[in-house]
Amino acid sequence: MASVPPTSSEPLVVVSDVQKHYGQFQALKDIDLTVDRGEVVVVIGPSGSGKSTLCRTINRLETITSGSITIDGKELPKEGKGLAELRADVGMVFQSFNLFAHLTILENVTLGPIKVRKMKKADAEKEARALLDRVGVGHQADKLPAQLSGGQQQRVAIARALAMKPKVMLFDEPTSALDPEMINEVLDVMVGLAKDGMTMIVVTHEMGFARKAANRVVFMADGQIVEQAVPEQFFTNPQSDRAKDFLSKLITH
Ligand SMILES: Nc1ncnc2c1ncn2[C@@H]1O[C@H](COP(=O)(O)OP(=O)(O)OP(=O)(O)O)[C@@H](O)[C@H]1O
Ligand SMILES: [Mg+2]
Repeated sequence: MASVPPTSSEPLVVVSDVQKHYGQFQALKDIDLTVDRGEVVVVIGPSGSGKSTLCRTINRLETITSGSITIDGKELPKEGKGLAELRADVGMVFQSFNLFAHLTILENVTLGPIKVRKMKKADAEKEARALLDRVGVGHQADKLPAQLSGGQQQRVAIARALAMKPKVMLFDEPTSALDPEMINEVLDVMVGLAKDGMTMIVVTHEMGFARKAANRVVFMADGQIVEQAVPEQFFTNPQSDRAKDFLSKLITH
């Protein structure tokens, strides 16, 4: 896929002053995050720091308590058709692949474009096959998810998200449920996407990916963004004690 020239110099994702509570518990505190078009941001931080919550608020799987989130200049609506449309602009890939078990690989990828984007079946299938080829599982199109390896299923999940032509892709620990030998095949697809100019927010502890593909690392702890820097700077010279402590544990494991 050729990279799309930016249509505007405005940032693609703007999270401002976002607070998120679950009852009395505050999961996100004073979050300000701006992601430019074509930028790849890796979000890293200890368990429970709010990384998944941040992803889930950006595509409105979770509501926010206050603040605002805009995608391509438009604020996320609370509900209705506008929400479905804006959510379709945000592709999401989770740790568990969430493919529909009773549908073939091809049907998994064409479902959204046919139902939500109202594409003709033949057109949706043509695009889906091209996407499946791109992530290296084109020859598996007629199989069921259970017949594929975890790494193959996760690449299908990426193709399925791309089929909706999202403006931004969110990845929440996409490789952490995979056997080690399958991690790289998924990361390679993600590095390719980044090279093609896709705007990406990626929660991952894969430092190799961050070094290779990220423009910026955002470090979260206790629901807050504690620091952000270019990967090399973050990994070699973290500023906060929280980040130093986190990185020392990550390296020794
Ligand atoms: N639906 C919920 N109800 C109540 N508390 C929640 C809910 N979802 C998340 N939390 C809490 O919010 C905090 C942030 O959770 P979140 O899943 O965003 O962390 P995370 O950084 O993604 O952690 P991990 O690395 O383990 O995936 C945690 O303390 C969690 O227990
Ligand atoms: Mg999480």
